[in-house]
Amino acid sequence: MVTTAPKALPRPLGLLAELTHRCPLACPYCSNPLALDRREDELDAATWARVFTEAAALGVLQVHLSGGEPAARRDLEDIMASARQAGLYTNLITSGVGVTAARLDKLADAGLDHVQVSIQDSEAGSADHIAGYTGAFARKRALAAEVVARGLPLTVNAVIHRANIDRVAEMVAMALAMGAKRVEIAHAQYYGWALKNRAMLMPRRDQVERAVATIEELRARHRGEIVIDAVVPDYHARFPKPCVGGWGRRSLNVTPAGKVLPCHAAETIPGLEFWSVREKSLADIWQFSPAFTAFRGTDFLPEPCASCERREIDFGGCRCQAFALTGDARATDPVCHLSPDHARVVQLAEEREDVAYHYRDLAHTGS
Ligand code: SF4
Ligand code: FES
Repeated sequence: MVTTAPKALPRPLGLLAELTHRCPLACPYCSNPLALDRREDELDAATWARVFTEAAALGVLQVHLSGGEPAARRDLEDIMASARQAGLYTNLITSGVGVTAARLDKLADAGLDHVQVSIQDSEAGSADHIAGYTGAFARKRALAAEVVARGLPLTVNAVIHRANIDRVAEMVAMALAMGAKRVEIAHAQYYGWALKNRAMLMPRRDQVERAVATIEELRARHRGEIVIDAVVPDYHARFPKPCVGGWGRRSLNVTPAGKVLPCHAAETIPGLEFWSVREKSLADIWQFSPAFTAFRGTDFLPEPCASCERREIDFGGCRCQAFALTGDARATDPVCHLSPDHARVVQLAEEREDVAYHYRDLAHTGS
């Protein structure tokens, strides 16, 4: 039986469905955890169908079918069809590798509404080096052309870091040439794999300032043609981002093995208890799971957040970052210039190392 959450609780709008951690790419800023779920532990399509029905009953409008590379699932079409059946708007987040034209047709027939393709750079050699996969650049462009040819809306997502930040304008031009209606300039977020590679990814302040100015200029120039979403990278900001729109407030993530997380990096916080869709309904998890209730709202926040007028705007920033930088997930996110730990962020933003990336380790996928 499908149950719904009481009215007093916020309702989630989006569900990130991590269908698999398997992926042909090995990006050094991957948001998947360091310990990847194994293929044999992945939820089956019938369980995903139940999760989507429960999500819709809870208020979720949009499902992001993600991974890893979701196309690594041979039953992706069945999973897509069940999301459509549940009445959810479906967004496929793909590396572009593994989705052929024939597969795209089947996915479109099954209910695909929107496609998001990641790009690593505007130059093929650099892009393939960052992805750790020769030929990825060409395959992404080919898939984008197939998506646009079918009239499906396309968003291009570009993760920005020291190796590509000077080519923000070229990446926006590339997104336009690919026929995208939206481009997301997403600076690397330092959890998981990106935390391991922080010194290799960290841009210089002058690079960030130039990129911010370039984006403003591009927004004005391309208004009406393409939407450019971008935020200042954490370590160079004055205020933190309202991470995931507030913990347990707007969205939930389901891992390939079925654990439900308030954000993709929540497993980096030790001591949190995550419930699984294998044992509980999504409504119960949303309302009662210890991981979701741990940092919901703002009551737990210490000073300076406790008496700050921005606390209902940014919720004290990101819990995972607060833990990564202070060892206390309840602390004010040290990205905030008012945090007593902010000096640490300033120091880390200056630490750079030009050595090989630690690529995401496929050996842990069980594929
Ligand atoms: Fe946000 Fe806390 Fe900084 Fe205020 S003190 S701006 S609530 S992080
Ligand atoms: Fe977990 Fe920000 S990534 S709260």
